[in-house]
Amino acid sequence: MTTGHNGFKSIQDVDVSGKRILLRADLNVPLADGGLGDATRIERLLPTLRGLADRGARLVVISHLGRPKGKPNPEFSLAPVAAALGAMLDPIPVAFAKDSIGPAAESAVGSLQDGQAILLENLRFHPGEEKNDPEFARALAKLGDLYVDDAFSCSHRAHASTEAITHLLSAYAGPQLVAEINALETVLEHPKRPVAAVVGGAKIGTKIAVLNNLIEKVDQLIIGGGMANTFLSAQGIDVANSLNEPELAGTAREIMAKADSAGCEIVLPSDVVAAVAFEPNAAHQVCDVSEVPAGTMILDVGPVSLENLKGRLAACKTLLWNGPLGAFELTPFGEGTFALAHEAARLTQAGELVTVAGGGDTVAALNEVGVADDFTYVSTAGGAFLEWLEGRELPGIAALARP
Ligand code: 3PG
Ligand code: MG
Repeated sequence: MTTGHNGFKSIQDVDVSGKRILLRADLNVPLADGGLGDATRIERLLPTLRGLADRGARLVVISHLGRPKGKPNPEFSLAPVAAALGAMLDPIPVAFAKDSIGPAAESAVGSLQDGQAILLENLRFHPGEEKNDPEFARALAKLGDLYVDDAFSCSHRAHASTEAITHLLSAYAGPQLVAEINALETVLEHPKRPVAAVVGGAKIGTKIAVLNNLIEKVDQLIIGGGMANTFLSAQGIDVANSLNEPELAGTAREIMAKADSAGCEIVLPSDVVAAVAFEPNAAHQVCDVSEVPAGTMILDVGPVSLENLKGRLAACKTLLWNGPLGAFELTPFGEGTFALAHEAARLTQAGELVTVAGGGDTVAALNEVGVADDFTYVSTAGGAFLEWLEGRELPGIAALARP
């Protein structure tokens, strides 16, 4: 039996033929106009399901969708996801059960044959799921012979389907979860150095713990987006109308001082694109950070900063990316983010850089320029990815590692 150095057991080593596998997936896909939005999370699950079905397992797939707050709500039904999954998994049939526990689930699971799959209705239709209720977990446990967690993106939640269940069935890590942890460890625990991190996004408020953890781990911390303004302003630079958190100036200065003693270089933009409004195609100009015109706001990095960042990537061996460099959703203020994404993708494909990216905005930006597949690994996790970057123990992972 192989165990990762995290200590969890992989399902790849187990004879699953004829076994009912209770498989925790993250099919919490975005919903759009009454239909399903981005299907990346469904696509990512397919190799796991195909692999286990080929080995003769009976797949009982469980997931949540949205936040229905413990009661049934057709708006959050997984039925359309089951249909999409079935179409993508063809010829493997995917049935659907109208409840995740009780008689409906038990009889549907009872009629599964080897190599077939069923998706159960939204776990969060029951209050016991989010309460990590042992009774709810016991009802789930009746539906499987063993438990597989392939939902890294839910592992920051101590819920019945990620935590309590592991006390009741033998618990294994699925291949996707293993791949995700391997990617994150490659970047943060044993990276090829130098290693750089790009941390961007609107505000530092939600990322203070991430920044504090990363300065201990990376050689260069490249700060972009609105967050950079708080750092610039904390150094006495007038950022005019830019997004800024003056109340966090002290925190920004502390982070810079800590980075200094940890030997981590903090990289801020030296020139920027300043616009008159937070709107697509707003009138704008390139200027030095020390000369942001009154009445304007910083919406992107400037060309000198961009060239500097490209040079830094070329000199690094490993890159972690979370958060855009500018207001990439507004044309043309995504130029900096997109150009750096292209460069990171090019270096990855040339074998010169290991690149791991995560977070909703980052993935959207990479998809927009079509380079997501050129990165070494792109995480579809949001909260779990950030908590990992904070250096926190994730309850769903700790539960798998328990002997
Ligand atoms: C996510 O999308 O981040 C996961 O599916 C977890 O969802 P949650 O934030 O509603 O717990
Ligand atoms: Mg979330």
